[in-house]
Amino acid sequence: MHRLQPGTTIGILGNGQLGRMLCLAAARLGYRTHVFGPEADSPAEHVATYSTVADYTDETALAAFSSAVGVVTFEFENVPASAAAYLAAHVHVRPTWKALKVCQDRIKEKQFFASIGAATPPWRGVNTHSDLDIAIKEIGAPAVLKTARFGYDGKGQAKILAEADTGAAWAAITGGKNPTPKNTFAVLEGFVDFICEISVIAARGQDRNVVCFEPSENVHANHMLATSTVPARIAPATAAHAIDIATRAIKALDLVGLLAVEMFVTSSGAILCNEMAPRPHNSGHWTQDACGTNQFEQMIRAVAGLPLVDPARHADAVMRNLVGEDVNNIDGYLADPAAHVHLYGKAEARPGRKMGHVNILKAKT
Ligand SMILES: Nc1ncnc2c1ncn2[C@@H]1O[C@H](COP(=O)(O)OP(=O)(O)OP(=O)(O)O)[C@@H](O)[C@H]1O
Ligand SMILES: [Mg+2]
Repeated sequence: MHRLQPGTTIGILGNGQLGRMLCLAAARLGYRTHVFGPEADSPAEHVATYSTVADYTDETALAAFSSAVGVVTFEFENVPASAAAYLAAHVHVRPTWKALKVCQDRIKEKQFFASIGAATPPWRGVNTHSDLDIAIKEIGAPAVLKTARFGYDGKGQAKILAEADTGAAWAAITGGKNPTPKNTFAVLEGFVDFICEISVIAARGQDRNVVCFEPSENVHANHMLATSTVPARIAPATAAHAIDIATRAIKALDLVGLLAVEMFVTSSGAILCNEMAPRPHNSGHWTQDACGTNQFEQMIRAVAGLPLVDPARHADAVMRNLVGEDVNNIDGYLADPAAHVHLYGKAEARPGRKMGHVNILKAKT
C-alpha cells in the first residue's frame, strides 16, 4: 500500500464539477489538491488548494504538476495518451492508463464487456457510409449510431429509425467529412427497448478490496441525465447481477479508484451494458447524502491508499440535476431540510449546462 500522509497533495486531471467534489472529499481527509485543466475559473479551481490552467499537451506544465503532487488521478477519462504516459513516468497515477484507454473507446469497451461475460446491445464497428448500410441490415432499425470516442451527454450520436434512413445519421456524426481515424470511427448499436436504466459505482482500493454502491435507476431527458433514484425498481436478483458485473469489470481492469457502469434492464430482467467511466459519475451523486460514505470519498480513499468503507445506504433518495435555468428556481429546495443542494459555482446558466444537483431524501423503505 502506498498510503498518503495528511497534508500530501493529490493531483487531479480535469477541473469540472467532478473535480470540485473530489477536492472537497480530499480536504475532509486532510489532503491538499492540485487541479490541472485547460479552463480558467473552473468549478474545481474554486475549491482546490492549487490550480494549473494549461493544455493537457503542455509538457512544461505537466512536469511542474507532477513534481508538486504525491499521486495523480482523473475526473474525466478523455485525457490524451501522451499526458497519461508523461505523468506515469514521473509520479504514481491511479487509475492507470491501461484502464483509462479501454473507457475512452466504445468499441474497446464493448469488447471488454464481452471478455468478462457481460452482455451488450448488438453492435457493429463502422468506418464508412457503406459499412453503415451493411451494419443496419444486420442489426435492424431502430438503432443508434455513435462516434467511438469523445461522446458525452448524447453528443456524437444519431438515432436511425428506418433501415433506408442512414444518410442523415452519417452526416450528423461525421459533419459531412470522411473520417480517417487510427481506430474504428463509429459504432452502430441496436436500440434497446429497456424498462429502465441503472448504474453501479464500484470502488477498488490498493488492497484490491472492492465495494459497490447499490444500483441507481437513471432517467435521461434531452440526452442528459435528469434523475437518479434509489432504490431502483428492479428485482433483488437483478441488482445482485448488476453489482456482480461492476465488480468483475473493476477487477478485470485492475483499476484502483472508481468505475461507474451504465446498464439497460430489459423486461425479461436481462442486463445489457451500455458504457463505463473510470471516475465519479453523475448517477452516483445521491451517495453524497444517502450513504455513510460517498463516491468522491471512496475514490480519494482508494487513490490515497486508505481502506474503503461499507457504503450502505441509510435513506431513499432522488438526485435531480439542475440544468441551465433550473438553478434559478431552487428556493423550494433551499427551504426543505430533506433537500441537499450542491452547486458548482458556474457563473452563467447556459441552456444544457449542468449547474448543480439536489439530493432529496426520504425515510428508507
Ligand atoms: N443502444 C441504446 N438503446 C437505447 N437507448 C440508448 C442506447 N444508447 C444510448 N441510449 C440512450 O442515450 C443515453 C446516452 O447514451 P450514452 O450513455 O451512450 O451516451 P453519452 O453521450 O456517453 O451519455 P452520458 O454522458 O450521459 O453518459 C443512454 O443513457 C440511453 O438513455
Ligand atoms: Mg452514458
